[in-house]
Amino acid sequence: MSNTRDRMPEKMLAARQKEAGGRLSIEEIDVPRPGRGEVVVKMDASPINPSDLALLSGGYLERKYPFTPGLEGSGTVVRSGGGIMPGLRMGKRVACSPNSGGDGTWAEYMVTSAMHTVPLPRNISMEQGSMMLVNPMTAMAFILLAREGKHRAMVNNAAASSLGKMLIRMCQRSGIPLINIVRKEEHMDALKALGATHVLNSTSSSFESDLKQLAEKLGATLFLDAVTGSYTSLLLRAAPDGTTLVAYARLSGESITADAGELIRKNKEIVGFQLGNWLQKHNMLFKLRFIKQVKKHLGNELTSHIHHTTPLAKVEEALAEYRQNMSEGKIILKP
Ligand SMILES: NC(=O)c1ccc[n+]([C@@H]2O[C@H](COP(=O)([O-])OP(=O)(O)OC[C@H]3O[C@@H](n4cnc5c(N)ncnc54)[C@H](OP(=O)(O)O)[C@@H]3O)[C@@H](O)[C@H]2O)c1
Repeated sequence: MSNTRDRMPEKMLAARQKEAGGRLSIEEIDVPRPGRGEVVVKMDASPINPSDLALLSGGYLERKYPFTPGLEGSGTVVRSGGGIMPGLRMGKRVACSPNSGGDGTWAEYMVTSAMHTVPLPRNISMEQGSMMLVNPMTAMAFILLAREGKHRAMVNNAAASSLGKMLIRMCQRSGIPLINIVRKEEHMDALKALGATHVLNSTSSSFESDLKQLAEKLGATLFLDAVTGSYTSLLLRAAPDGTTLVAYARLSGESITADAGELIRKNKEIVGFQLGNWLQKHNMLFKLRFIKQVKKHLGNELTSHIHHTTPLAKVEEALAEYRQNMSEGKIILKP
């Protein structure tokens, strides 16, 4: 039997996509009902992330249509489907993500497993909290990867992203030298103003040799690659022997190409990273400690710059604006 804190409506508004690559429309649909172990979150805020764009384009995850997008957000738990964890979450402000294959956060209400909710500290706004489960956790995971692999320094591309900026601040705090790669001149100044020491522009003619030299000098043997595609082979050539290249996104939209000789003769490796898979490799105690660490830095190093908030009804305009200028900061949808 479900437990409800407030009287809940029968119907709600949600952004819906009817086919891969199709436009979103705002539709009135039934408010979802939670099963055992699940909760209903009354949504307050959700960012637009690159993974949302990939999901909307159709090639990212298996989907049944129509569906509600939105891979993370924040809100208040207003109904429990029964069970200890859902009961504990009742009335809590939470960061949340949808069930695998389930409807997402771009709606007035979302059903999800209570395991996919994390209570938000009081000093964290719903807007910042809506972005807690993807980028802050990933930035923290990258710091742990550097420490565990005993890498003296690391490299990150698409570095003017929200995640890239978090990594700059976390590396400063952790004393790990970071080489940042951007593709626009204006982002070089912006990252330096943020405190970045090493920023390279990938469109410069000397980029590959500059990267090679700097990576050797700093001992940067952890390369974080969000662009991938043919770009990966350049990174691999410039990387010192023994480098681990972590492919964590495919912003180029291409498949990775690389010279196998770099891997075979120079002891370099390419590994994939997806936050959910990485977390699954760790036990519950590790996860609880990890979340505590992320919460500690959420209002500081792990803050995301918010470009602006916009009503969910304007989701199509917001997507167009975000695609135009992703480095400007996050656009937050408010149902
Ligand atoms: N694997 C995981 O678990 C995981 C977790 C979190 C994030 N991510 C990935 O991390 C990346 C950053 O996420 P975010 O939310 O921080 O992004 P964001 O703030 O929305 O910024 C996206 C950045 O990507 C750059 N970019 C876009 N297309 C590019 C291309 N073809 N080549 C080079 N740069 C390009 C943009 O720079 P311009 O201004 O130059 O376009 C922008 O700075 C995304 O790719 C995301 O999918 C992966």
